[in-house]
Amino acid sequence: MTFSNVTVAVAKGRILEGTRALWVQRGLTWPVDAESRKLWFSPNALRPGMLIARARDIPTLVAMGIADLGVVGLDVLEEHPNSQILQVADLKFGACRIVLAGRERQWPAGPTRIATKYQRIAQAYFSLHHHPVELVPLSGSLELAPVIGLAPYIVDIVDTGNTLRQHQLVEIATVMESSARLIANPSHWRTKPSLEAVRQILTA
Ligand code: PRP
Repeated sequence: MTFSNVTVAVAKGRILEGTRALWVQRGLTWPVDAESRKLWFSPNALRPGMLIARARDIPTLVAMGIADLGVVGLDVLEEHPNSQILQVADLKFGACRIVLAGRERQWPAGPTRIATKYQRIAQAYFSLHHHPVELVPLSGSLELAPVIGLAPYIVDIVDTGNTLRQHQLVEIATVMESSARLIANPSHWRTKPSLEAVRQILTA
């Protein structure tokens, strides 16, 4: 099996680090140099090519066939649904949770303001609980919101919990669990057997 016709798009950050560990563990050579700013690595017979992109752009790159496969968190797939991709495996690494957090371990007493970069997921969650909320969209540094008086609660990713602790915030409820997913372009998945070979290597 040659990998010279396969390109994988990988989300920057934790997912990229987890992909590196899995990739190397499964005997594939890893092309990305941590010191370099290079974002594209061409494929060869021994390993797929790689594109490194922002998490929320990975489904678009795969849907458009620029990459055959993608590695991205379930949180991103739920927040930015894309019907033109297939989810082909739970890669199990990158486990984290999206939580509701605030200063006290207590569900908001009434209608409240919540800062989040997961507006769709948060809206669905509070609708399910029939709890009125005003969502304040932020794209990062969520833990600042309660500190600066922007919103008393946040809905955000928790991994180690360090960031919450450093801002005197506590988890109130788990909104969803996430981990890294392998996604595929549907027509490439049907026509390129090497994609299934990559899936098998990464999930063996
Ligand atoms: C995420 C999240 C928290 C942090 C949680 O941010 O938004 O800030 O990680 O991780 P921890 O529980 O291990 O402390 P990320 O680093 O992805 O960047 P962002 O703030 O730009 O979203």
